[in-house]
Amino acid sequence: MPAIVLVGAQWGDEGKGKATDLIGGQVDYVVKFNGGNNAGHTVVIDGETYALHLLPSGILTPSVTPVIGNGVVIDLGVLFEELDGLEARGVDTSKLVVSANAHLIPSYNRTLDKVTERFLGKRRIGTTGRGIGPTYADKMSRVGLRVQDLFDEKILRQKVEGALEQKNQLLVKVYNRRAADVDEVADELLAYADRLRPMVTDTALLLDQALTDGKVVIMEAGQATLLDVDHGTYPFVTSSNATAGGASTGSGIPPTRIDGVIAVLKAYTTRVGEGPFPTELFGDDGDRLRKAGGEFGTTTGRPRRCGWLDTVIGRYSTRINGTTDLVVTKLDVLTGYDPVPVCVAYDIDGVRHDEMPMTQTEFHHAVPIFEYFEGWDDDITGARTLDDLPPAARRYLEAVEDMCKAPVSAVGVGPGREQIVAIRDLVR
Ligand code: GDP
Ligand code: IMO
Ligand code: MG
Repeated sequence: MPAIVLVGAQWGDEGKGKATDLIGGQVDYVVKFNGGNNAGHTVVIDGETYALHLLPSGILTPSVTPVIGNGVVIDLGVLFEELDGLEARGVDTSKLVVSANAHLIPSYNRTLDKVTERFLGKRRIGTTGRGIGPTYADKMSRVGLRVQDLFDEKILRQKVEGALEQKNQLLVKVYNRRAADVDEVADELLAYADRLRPMVTDTALLLDQALTDGKVVIMEAGQATLLDVDHGTYPFVTSSNATAGGASTGSGIPPTRIDGVIAVLKAYTTRVGEGPFPTELFGDDGDRLRKAGGEFGTTTGRPRRCGWLDTVIGRYSTRINGTTDLVVTKLDVLTGYDPVPVCVAYDIDGVRHDEMPMTQTEFHHAVPIFEYFEGWDDDITGARTLDDLPPAARRYLEAVEDMCKAPVSAVGVGPGREQIVAIRDLVR
């Protein structure tokens, strides 16, 4: 039975939360495999808005077991705040399981994330300031703290002490900040140990058994293809693998057991933070799209940078992720635009590029080559089948399919759970 990966095709905020929620009823497990509370996934159910950061979006579906995989970095304070917030709204969160191998975000990494950005000045990444980058760096440097360390106090204190030997030099001597205290850091983390303990398990083993038993597992990405640390617009990326390959390492589900990859693609493009963005719109044009799409960050509230659909990126995403299904979201936001520009290739220093260029220097020079599609004026928020859409909207989707080289299986026409044009079953 299927193990399906769900990723973002662009720079995040494509509507992954809504897409996961959409198939929630057909799914047994939803695994978050990368990132942490840098993510912000909004799900709207019966007019109620839920903003999820650290928890997998599947937590809103009662039949789903939500899983925080080994590839995730966990801020324990945020985890319990989010769980309490959902419980207070009547959501049952008791099924959540957490990998013993997931890493913890200690307070000093939140501090380091923020001060590093400040020191970078104009060269800053525009991170969410949640300590994500420093915590993944610690993981790779083998000075990270893991969930399982909470259950061996002596080891935890030793590891915090080891990490702080380096970190305090950095905090005090380079960044002119107060040194972190070993006991203070360890005690803050240990305070959550008893409450976390019953949720912690060997999630890779659990998921292996689930798949063997014929259960349906979705691996839900935080962030997106162009924010992937290997395949994205480095260094303006997050610090984890947000593409389909990351689903295997971040969950323990091997590539040979993965049956499909759903890529969520916004009908236009947005980006939060710094970095290149070829189809970006500025001034009034950017404001109009931002307003139409309500493009303000779920996590930091920052206005998102907005621009037209870029199918060079769409094709790249299909290639890197091995996309089997596209979910196109926010088509309703393009209503009223005529014509609708779509970037089909780049002009880079006088040379046409149909594929993503090899270097970031070239990508920074990319000037979009647009094709112009006929727009539509009709309100499409009530459409539920392709036939309900005006011919121009259908032609737009055909062009997306053609240029991004993957079939469109569902189309979002509004934020609500029911506001979807279903074309093909996503869980097959
Ligand atoms: P994620 O991070 O990929 O889960 O996406 P976000 O939740 O950060 O941003 C997507 C936003 O678009 C949210 O506010 C959703 O409620 C909203 N949304 C999702 N799909 C649609 C859609 O088809 N139409 C409209 N108008 N809004 C949508
Ligand atoms: P979802 O899951 C959009 C961006 C940040 C910054 C860069 C690095 O909601 O799509 P980080 O704090 O991760 O070190 O910041 O990545 N970023 C996102 N942008 N959506 C997200 O998540 C993001 N998570 C991180 O703005 O540019
Ligand atoms: Mg988001």
